[in-house]
Amino acid sequence: MRQITKDFPGVRANDAVDFKVAQGEIHGLLGENGAGKSVLMGILYGLYQPTSGEIFIHGRAVAIRSPAEAIALKIGMVHQHFMLISNMTVAENIVLGFEPDGYFWNRKEIAQRVAQFAAEAKLPINPEETVGQLSVGAQQRVEILKVLYRQAQILILDEPTAVLTPQETEALFRAMRALRDQGKTIIFIAHKLKEVLSICDRITVLCRGKLVGTEDAGATDESKLAEMMVGTKVVPATRIGEATIGDRVLEVKDLTADGERGERALEGLSFELRAGEILGIAGVEGNGQTELVEVLTGLRRPTGGKVFLSEADLSGITPRTALDYGIRHIPEDKRKRGIIPGFSVKENLILGDHCRPPFKGRFSWLMERVIRRFADKRIEEFQIQTPSRDTPIDSLSGGNQQRLIVGRVYGHQKRPTLLIAAQPTCGLDVQATRYVRQKLIELSDQGAAVLLVSADLDEVMAISDRILVIHNGRLHEASKRPSRQELGLLMIGGREDE
Ligand SMILES: Nc1ncnc2c1ncn2[C@@H]1O[C@H](COP(=O)(O)OP(=O)(O)OP(=O)(O)O)[C@@H](O)[C@H]1O
Ligand SMILES: [Mg+2]
Repeated sequence: MRQITKDFPGVRANDAVDFKVAQGEIHGLLGENGAGKSVLMGILYGLYQPTSGEIFIHGRAVAIRSPAEAIALKIGMVHQHFMLISNMTVAENIVLGFEPDGYFWNRKEIAQRVAQFAAEAKLPINPEETVGQLSVGAQQRVEILKVLYRQAQILILDEPTAVLTPQETEALFRAMRALRDQGKTIIFIAHKLKEVLSICDRITVLCRGKLVGTEDAGATDESKLAEMMVGTKVVPATRIGEATIGDRVLEVKDLTADGERGERALEGLSFELRAGEILGIAGVEGNGQTELVEVLTGLRRPTGGKVFLSEADLSGITPRTALDYGIRHIPEDKRKRGIIPGFSVKENLILGDHCRPPFKGRFSWLMERVIRRFADKRIEEFQIQTPSRDTPIDSLSGGNQQRLIVGRVYGHQKRPTLLIAAQPTCGLDVQATRYVRQKLIELSDQGAAVLLVSADLDEVMAISDRILVIHNGRLHEASKRPSRQELGLLMIGGREDE
């Protein structure tokens, strides 16, 4: 890609970027939130037309006017947000748009073909399963298979690991290496520098729409890359000194709940959380953490047990009551539960509070002026990059959408009593990650109880005062300053002394 520039109203997303990738390499693309990574790749995939610049494939100048043309050039993209159709099966999703000819087609045969194809690609899936019921890791495999099914030689993976557990990430990396060894070319976008360094052959860094440079992975390290991304050295956020732990805020007693498919997801959990405390819940995805968060925020009804907030019995409350009690939520699935895509930045910033003063006035009118002022304040405070408060949230970069979700947690006047933060920094760049962690610490220092649910062990270890590991719907308490090894063992259901 030569001298690619892309202007959107009010933003230059790419500014004369040169980007070169060799065949058969895994090439990392790094940059802060809003640096222009997704836009650059969107141009390569025909989603956007560059304002100026040229694209060459194997030395030949090409015009890519649509994803269909990109696919014809054997370019495939797995987007930052999943694009699968959740009520269709795996096989149907994979062949969608490239179904066999003819009016009738044999579903069995297609399922078989897809299964064989998946086995060859080392990306195991069950072709007959409905996509909506799959774990995120499995959905991702389907996304990649879909691209491979269309014979892609150049694969763009936009933050594929942001939502994966360490185990799923390892499996994905194995598949990526196998694809590279078959001569495929992979462009890999991610924010975790460790991951990028471990999987990539070369790495290109963007900063505010401009190219900073391309490095061999072997000749660089985390701190150099971080410096290239932001232009300064970044220090990680950790709590300085001991937390001041106050009264009990949350008490969970023998909590049980069922999962999406009616299976038992929580097998009787009991724990306490105090004011000023950050309680980390670590665990491999799918061990009940999603259900736990949903029960605590009123999104799922428990089948047994009790939840108390201070002295109030909140078992089986609704999300609105949860908000009334000062329970705030950074949802795991930011796209599905964190925002309303068609709404503006301003509207998204008051979601959940829109039904109360000062945003709601007499006769249920929304108080425009108050909302505008509030939105501008949050945009500034949380450095949400957006042309204006009225911009539809869809046109913000992924990381900036997330800053908005975190900013909303602070509410209008009242600080949260209990903050439930599920994967709060997934998809954030180094600087923003630091910022969000600092905010969580700050909130707890101000007396909020924070429940941090994260698949990122480094994160849990960095800022939690206490760590519980969830496995098969049960909680296990880790020691005071646990090692990665200890947590890893607990995560798969073992103990150090075994
Ligand atoms: N469709 C669009 N309309 C208007 N502006 C856009 C659009 N898509 C992206 N932008 C803007 O272009 C800039 C670059 O965005 P991009 O999505 O490429 O960032 P990114 O590097 O992928 O960031 P992240 O790590 O947060 O995903 C941002 O300022 C964003 O607001
Ligand atoms: Mg992006």
